[in-house]
Amino acid sequence: MTKLPSLFLVLTLVSVFVCGFGKRIPILSFDEGYSQLFGDDNLVLHRDGKAVHLSLNERTGSGFVSQDLYLHGYFSASIKLPADYTAGVVVAFYMSNGDMFEKNHDEIDFEFLGNIRGKDWRIQTNIYGNGSTSVGREERYNLWFDPADDFHQYTILWTDSQIIFYIDNVPIREFKRTAAMGGDFPSKPMSLYATIWDGSDWATNGGKYRVNYKYAPYVAEFSDLILHGCAVDPIEFSSKKCDTTSQSLELSATITPSQRSKMDSFRRKHMTYSYCYDQTRYKVPPVECVINPREAERLKRFDPVTFGGRRHHGKRHHRSRASRSEADTI
Ligand SMILES: *[C@@H]1O[C@H](CO)[C@@H](O)[C@H](O)[C@H]1NC(C)=O
Repeated sequence: MTKLPSLFLVLTLVSVFVCGFGKRIPILSFDEGYSQLFGDDNLVLHRDGKAVHLSLNERTGSGFVSQDLYLHGYFSASIKLPADYTAGVVVAFYMSNGDMFEKNHDEIDFEFLGNIRGKDWRIQTNIYGNGSTSVGREERYNLWFDPADDFHQYTILWTDSQIIFYIDNVPIREFKRTAAMGGDFPSKPMSLYATIWDGSDWATNGGKYRVNYKYAPYVAEFSDLILHGCAVDPIEFSSKKCDTTSQSLELSATITPSQRSKMDSFRRKHMTYSYCYDQTRYKVPPVECVINPREAERLKRFDPVTFGGRRHHGKRHHRSRASRSEADTI
């Protein structure tokens, strides 16, 4: 999709600051940092552009994109998801350069996958580097709160050496660059996106749980939008320009022992899928995977077919497609 020109007037600089990694990071209003991507009046600004509502109805979804591309950074938003029946609804908060590098794009995703009434939203994280779309690196989790009840902060920290996903300042996934990974680690400038869309076809399951427009509009609310990174020209970028930012980001990417124990506990209790343990997709896990026997055992109990191993050869093809969609977990 191409960037549409901003439809909004530039507001005066908002002098709201939040504290983050010992540094004061400005919160941008919508018009300072973003442009509408699609969905015409399904994107509505509130509080002088400090909050954005994205809605999905039978006509269209909606979305916005950062005006700049960034090489590394700290990207964050407080998000409140639509409540009640949300099957087939997908809300995404992600970085990508897919419109600029069609064949070898990079991507870092938070994807929120709606559910039938009474079942919680599910969260998926994923990473692609230099067009590595044949290797999905999905993880899925449930949450310790209802993300439709209130705002919670979702953050992507991307440095030259690692990617950390946070929810409310708790790191939930750490993805370290290794030499063997080669181009699979995102390394070209990306834009930040937020979208809501109809994922009925993605979430297959025979179309059983499609979006039901009886409950529309579905509204996802965004606020406290943070873009803190090195903005660069996507084609002629030099990573040197970003050295100072990169150094401060590397420092902030240090996970303290107490954060690490929270992360371990989160993953122990809430992770429901990890590509590293999916034996129906990868006979040999991708190079970066460090197999933790306890994690393997827990996932296997949870889903013996996907994580259990060799007895289910006949189902390999089916399962590997299904694991890319959300269908089997709704
Ligand atoms: C990225 O992909 C391009 C095009 O396929 C290739 O020429 C390049 O070597 C790749 N870069 C890395 C770091 O793998």
